[in-house]
Amino acid sequence: MTYKFNVYNGCIILMRKLNNAFDSVKLNFYLNLLNFLPFVILTVSGMIIQIEYHIHELPDAYVVSGLNRSGWLLIHKISSVISFAGIVLHCIMHRKYIVTVTKKILNRKNKPKILLSYYLLIIYIPASLICLFTWIFLNHEDTLRHTLIEVHDKLTILLIIFTAMHLIQRAGWMVRTIKKLFITRISGDIHEKTAD
Ligand code: HEM
Ligand code: HEM
Repeated sequence: MTYKFNVYNGCIILMRKLNNAFDSVKLNFYLNLLNFLPFVILTVSGMIIQIEYHIHELPDAYVVSGLNRSGWLLIHKISSVISFAGIVLHCIMHRKYIVTVTKKILNRKNKPKILLSYYLLIIYIPASLICLFTWIFLNHEDTLRHTLIEVHDKLTILLIIFTAMHLIQRAGWMVRTIKKLFITRISGDIHEKTAD
């Protein structure tokens, strides 16, 4: 009797754990999908400003692909806020990973196996905060603002490379999750219908 009771309890606990795990997988999946577009817009608008107006030194009023510099900057600022909110949620969802890797780095006894996502986090924090800070707190003529934007320019090159590697590395997870969430479910429904 006690044995049966324990197995039953164990199953309930396992089911609850699986259920929670599945919910967080779903949540991660949809959040990753939502994060993709703002990040692409952020990168494209930032690259246009960097290449055309910083490197090629085009005048601010010059129109590139339908927008002048202030138009591209507006798009860049809007997408930066949306993307920032999405990435903060993404990091909250992966807080266990971040805490574990941070502890491993701080605890020198364990040789840390630092993963790519952690490097990305380390680059993302200054790259994003520097420009959110200059935008909110510094005025246009401030020389510190120009210096910090230069730093942002350089950091974002690393950010683009590491995000591209992150996406390539984790694309397999997205494909497996699509199969798990949709394809297995559809084939399950077909099996159920044919059984009826
Ligand atoms: C730019 C800042 C970003 C940071 C700091 C970041 C950080 C992380 C961390 C810490 C993990 C967990 C560890 C791992 O599985 O490798 C992770 C996983 C993942 N990230 Fe990111 N990420 C960023 C951007 C993005 C973007 C823009 C996307 C997609 C649009 C994305 C898609 C994924 C996917 C598919 C996974 C694995 C699946 C999951 O558990 O969610 N990441 N990321
Ligand atoms: C992904 C690659 C990125 C590139 C190539 C890029 C590029 C740039 C460039 C060239 C500027 C200067 C605009 C100007 O000259 O007026 C700029 C400004 C700005 N960037 Fe980015 N950026 C990127 C990512 C980010 C991220 C991740 C954030 C924050 C989440 C961000 C937020 C901003 C903000 C708020 C400004 C305006 C700063 C101000 O007016 O003081 N950018 N970016």
